[in-house]
Amino acid sequence: MGVLGCFALVFGLGLVACGGDDDDGGGGGGGKVALLLPESKTTRYEAHDHPEFESNLKRHCPDCELVYSNANQDASQQQDQVEAALTEGIDVMVLDPVDSASAAGMVNLAKQQGVPVISYDRLILGSDGVDYYVSFDNVKVGELQGSALVKKLADDGTPTGPIVKINGSPTDNNAKLFGQGAQSQFDAAGVQIAKEYDTPDWSPDKAQQEMEQAITAVGNNGFTGVYAMNDGTAGGAIAAMTGAGVDPASKPTTGQDAELEAIQRIVAGQQFMTVYKATSLETDATAQLAAALAQGEDVPSDLVNDETDNGAKMVPSVIETPVAVTIDNLQDTVFKDNGDLGPPYQTVQDVCVAQFAQACKAAGLE
Ligand code: BGC
Repeated sequence: MGVLGCFALVFGLGLVACGGDDDDGGGGGGGKVALLLPESKTTRYEAHDHPEFESNLKRHCPDCELVYSNANQDASQQQDQVEAALTEGIDVMVLDPVDSASAAGMVNLAKQQGVPVISYDRLILGSDGVDYYVSFDNVKVGELQGSALVKKLADDGTPTGPIVKINGSPTDNNAKLFGQGAQSQFDAAGVQIAKEYDTPDWSPDKAQQEMEQAITAVGNNGFTGVYAMNDGTAGGAIAAMTGAGVDPASKPTTGQDAELEAIQRIVAGQQFMTVYKATSLETDATAQLAAALAQGEDVPSDLVNDETDNGAKMVPSVIETPVAVTIDNLQDTVFKDNGDLGPPYQTVQDVCVAQFAQACKAAGLE
């Protein structure tokens, strides 16, 4: 934090400590924490990660100040946002990278200024400057998607597919892990792949084009299910099917994130499953780490539960558990109250708007 910014805070707020290295001695006093998220087409970031991190940080560090930016899936924009945050004198950087590999350079910049870095949700590769990593078991996410689809294909009488695979962004390390987990299930069951695409930027529009290409290439009857890596790409794939006159209910489609629109599609029978990742747990763990680092305090001893190889070091990690969601367990997952950590991930009220009222009634959701 620059000298002027420091005075302004002291005069303006009285008790707020100056940032930078000034308050590294420990014992509270707040600090500036940057949260840098990668994109906004996937709804989780603005609907969950950002507000939940903000309120959890307030709880764990009432005097901490949040500096927030979203890179809109543009790595060079994220670079600018990192530089701006460092110029503002942040004490901790929480970075969810657009590009897992090139973000190593951003970590180096932070390190030059003595700012600790938490790799949030996506692992930053090839840098020994990453202090912590907070995420879900991402191979497990892929296994949940893959095994649910394998079971459904068998139930539908087409145990070996073939399926269309709509993957996520090749610059996201998570996409690699989800793919590993899912493909292990397809290999074990002998599921054939009719067509497979990587989706730049995880863009739902591009996913729709990919699915249109797949349908054109293999025909309406040339596939029996769709592996979509997240709910955004599932939405694109389902729109392409509808546009081509294919009933999405007849082609089980996976997803991830438990987005509002995905839950509505599940209730309406258009999407088969999603994966619920409780961002309240992820943001809470990250806020606890950030609060401790910002105030020079010890990190709670029971928080770190794993370590992850990023190619340059074993990064101390907090790894949460994902849950598969179908129409059968909505109440116990996305609609469940989260107690202190916040409201349910989705509410029946939001899901069951007029257009879905009948489907909700049929599913016993009212
Ligand atoms: C996240 C997913 C998200 C995807 C697209 C992944 O790194 O783990 O939850 O759907 O990025 O933003």
